[in-house]
Formats: sequence, structure tokens, C-alpha cells
Amino acid sequence: MSDRPGPRAMSPVLLGAGGGDWSPVTAGESGAAVFRDADATRYAKCVPAADAAGLRAERDRVAWLNDQGVPGPRVLDWHSGDTGACLVTSAVPGVSADQVPAEDLRAAWERIADAVRRLHEVPVPRCPFRRDLDAMVALARDVVARDAVKAEFLPVEQRHTPPGELLDRLVRQVPRRREQETADTVVCHGDLCLPNIILDPRTLDVSGFIDLGRLGRADRYADLALLLTSARETWEDEERGRAADTAFAERYGIVLDHDRLRFHLHLDPLTWG
Ligand SMILES: Nc1ncnc2c1ncn2[C@@H]1O[C@H](COP(=O)(O)OP(=O)(O)O)[C@@H](O)[C@H]1O
Ligand SMILES: [Mg+2]
Repeated sequence: MSDRPGPRAMSPVLLGAGGGDWSPVTAGESGAAVFRDADATRYAKCVPAADAAGLRAERDRVAWLNDQGVPGPRVLDWHSGDTGACLVTSAVPGVSADQVPAEDLRAAWERIADAVRRLHEVPVPRCPFRRDLDAMVALARDVVARDAVKAEFLPVEQRHTPPGELLDRLVRQVPRRREQETADTVVCHGDLCLPNIILDPRTLDVSGFIDLGRLGRADRYADLALLLTSARETWEDEERGRAADTAFAERYGIVLDHDRLRFHLHLDPLTWG
């Protein structure tokens, strides 16, 4: 049983985001309630008051990314009060990249690689937000200590291992991974899975990135690990998945280090909860 307010209690109208005909969008990955307005030009993300700081952080990242020439939503409205907080953004037109068939994703794949590379080319000193390894490990320690790891986020083969042990294994690698990060920090999206990449369904160009709550300075592998793994849910089989990884790496301009991908992939599920 959850003691959190349900989506109805967190509707944009009740939270003060003004008029509009809002209907719930169920596709989100987080605990936030997301709504779309009737003419599909605005989205509203609503959270209970306890999570307002996280949503405020997302608001600040959306506003910042807008000034960097990377396509994404604009901040239209923000409300925060005793009953919760609500962020209203402009809709990035199109469909989430997890909603298109494999052949369309394949057609868009190099354009996605280009868009990710351009994001990663934003000058790091301009970015005021952190999403580095130490911040992520601190988050993971907190989630594990609260026994709040969501088993469904873990790879199947890890679901029967105590999360504390999963975290210990990763922590042993931290000194090496921190060195890699220091040598290769970029502006990362921070939650770069296919649902957070919007495609124009007609041209298959990237319309923009959404869900920017974790955007910040980090190892580029944090993004690459999530993206390549998320796309595996669309590719038909392992062979085509590997071919897609190779095509992505070539276009993006990297020789993939699979151990490093695995490390970032395995840290991520311990940081949500
Ligand atoms: N500004 C936006 N433009 C286009 N689609 C959006 C926008 N905001 C949310 N969505 C849609 O709603 C879904 C959930 O929103 P998101 O911000 O990703 O929430 P969560 O943090 O729950 O994943 C997205 O996957 C996307 O389909
Ligand atoms: Mg999302």
C-alpha cells in the first residue's frame, strides 16, 4: 500500500497550474504523475510536496538546456505548495523512441547518435549541475540503506542478490571508474532511455530530449549504458542488438568499453527508490 497521494490529488489544476483540460499520461518511469493537455501542446508533471526539490531540480535543468541549443521542452509554469509541486512544460512534438517499431528505430539510430553526441559536446564548464559518480553512489547508498531498491529495475540475474552486495561490488570499482570519469566528463542527460527521446514519426528526426531531472556533468558512459540497454527492448534479437551497438559507436565516434558500460548500467537501478 502506498501512502502517497494518487494522481487525482496531484492534478495540475489542484496544484494551481491553472486552467486546461488535462488527462493522465501513464507512460512515465518515475513516481511522478504526468498529464497532457487536450491540444497536446503542454505536459504537466506533478509530485507530492516531499518530492518538490527533485522537480525543482528538473525545472532548472529544462530551463538551462534550453539555452544550450539542445532540443527539449521549455518551462511554461511552475507551482509549489503544501499539497505538492507541478512543472508545466511545452510538448516536444512526436513520439517516444520506445514506441516506434525496430525498423523505424534503426532508421533514426544514427540521428539519435548525432543528437546524443551534440548534447555531450555542450561545454562542461557551462553546466552547473552534477550527476557524477560520487553523487550517484551517495544516492545508491541511501536507497540501499532504506531498503528501497525496486527489484523490477534490476537485471533479472541480480534480483536474488541482496542490494547491499550489488552495491559493494560496484563500490570496489569506484576508484578506477572515478579516474575514467575525470578524464572524460561530459554533460549527460542522466536518464537516457528511449522513452525520454522524442522522434518526429514522419521524418524520424530527433525532436528533443525530455525528462531532464538528472541532467548533469558525468561520465559519457552513464548515458551510453542506459541508451544501448534500453534499445535492446526494441531490437529483435541479440545479434541485431550487437550490430546496433556497433553502428551507434561508429557514428558517435567511440570504441565501446563493455566493462565500463556494465558498471554504469548496474549502478543506475540502485539509485531509484
Ligand atoms: N515535454 C514533453 N514533450 C513530449 N512528451 C512528454 C513531455 N513530458 C512528458 N512527456 C511524455 O510523458 C512521458 C512521461 O514523462 P516523463 O517526464 O518522462 O516522466 P517520468 O519521470 O515519469 O519518466 C514521457 O515518456 C513522454 O511520453
Ligand atoms: Mg521518462
